[in-house]
Amino acid sequence: MIFSFAKIGNLALENRLIRAATFEGLCDQKGNPGKAYAEFYGYLAKQEIGAIITGFAFVEKEGRAVHPGQAGIDEIDKIPLFQNVTDRVHQEGGKIILQIAHTGRQTSSKATGGKVWGVSGKKSPYFQSEPQMLDHDKITEIIHHFAMSSCYAREAGFDGIQLHGAHGYLIHQFLDPKINRRADIFGNRTEFLHRVIAAIREKCGVDFPLLIKISADEKDRKGFRKTIAFLDTQPVDAIEISYGSMENALNIFRGKSLPLDIISLYNFRYRSENPVRRWLWKKLAAPVLSRKIIAFSPTYNLEYAKIARELTSKPIICVGGFRSGTEIEHALSKRDTDFVSLCRPLLCEPDFVKKLKKDIRYRSKCQDCNICAVMCDSEFATRCYHGHEDWNH
Ligand SMILES: Cc1cc2nc3c(=O)[nH]c(=O)nc-3n(C[C@H](O)[C@H](O)[C@H](O)COP(=O)(O)O)c2cc1C
Repeated sequence: MIFSFAKIGNLALENRLIRAATFEGLCDQKGNPGKAYAEFYGYLAKQEIGAIITGFAFVEKEGRAVHPGQAGIDEIDKIPLFQNVTDRVHQEGGKIILQIAHTGRQTSSKATGGKVWGVSGKKSPYFQSEPQMLDHDKITEIIHHFAMSSCYAREAGFDGIQLHGAHGYLIHQFLDPKINRRADIFGNRTEFLHRVIAAIREKCGVDFPLLIKISADEKDRKGFRKTIAFLDTQPVDAIEISYGSMENALNIFRGKSLPLDIISLYNFRYRSENPVRRWLWKKLAAPVLSRKIIAFSPTYNLEYAKIARELTSKPIICVGGFRSGTEIEHALSKRDTDFVSLCRPLLCEPDFVKKLKKDIRYRSKCQDCNICAVMCDSEFATRCYHGHEDWNH
């Protein structure tokens, strides 16, 4: 099954393995992709992965993330820069999908250089910025940005786009009943997403592959089911199933341990230059943090993919904890999911898919140490630190 041909909308894939969106940290301060970004994707395109999904790119500056070096597709002038990237990928025979996002309240005004917007005025407990509640004019503007960014992506030669509707970013904030308590039309959890999808289809056409990534939530399975049922009625070409939000980021990318030293040095919220404060944080705050963390288990989102599979005939992509060909083949052959996407295994071994082709039982060397994830807050480009733990550069 892994190496069987499949389609997402009109996009043909050589196999059922997808590179899951992975933040790169390779762009300049304006979110322009330069040589390093193009080279990185050119290299990945040689690795025989069915399709590559980029890291999240912001659709407007006020929707950018706290991570330095994030890509942005917010201006028409950026089309030629992204075209360099897609040209490189296509020359190598790869397929590339751009993930687009708006952070909503999960950012800081230092990062956006302007306001922080929220579905309500309620702060994110983790990011702690005071958001301004979105009014109808600003909502209309953001919907327009999503549509325009999608058109820029199409013009730049991307093979499709993926809406980041997961991990607590703006689309997820609207979908989450714990956050969205609005009394207006957007209090209907799916209204914002419905309008974003409609605007993209209107401006970009019906044939441009449009994927969406959403998060499951252990405590709100009913809400998850409702979101899938809603997406079943929408003109989207595939649904990727992830988990959770940046409030507890380590439940999205579950690890086998907590890299406390690195968190205390680099994390956006907890970092400190002061060794005493770092020591205190590790002693006092870290145990509280640890209690909220769900331990790694193989293929950890598959149970939610199975739920989704029952509720829609749209292609399902499952991400999270796939580490061996045997696990992937099992999930695909039982039809629990149509595609499997991989993030950390491809950071650790970009040629993982080639290795699986040679030996289906091959197991990833990824140790789920999550240093790659914590280092997204640093100014260094994303990479694997396993075997070369020079994380202080
Ligand atoms: C370093 C790093 C960067 C990530 N960047 C993104 C991103 O830009 N967009 C996104 O939707 N998910 C992002 N994720 C989450 C992954 O796509 C994926 O959902 C998660 O890591 C679980 O898959 P895995 O077990 O194969 O790593 C990132 C994860 C890591 C570790």
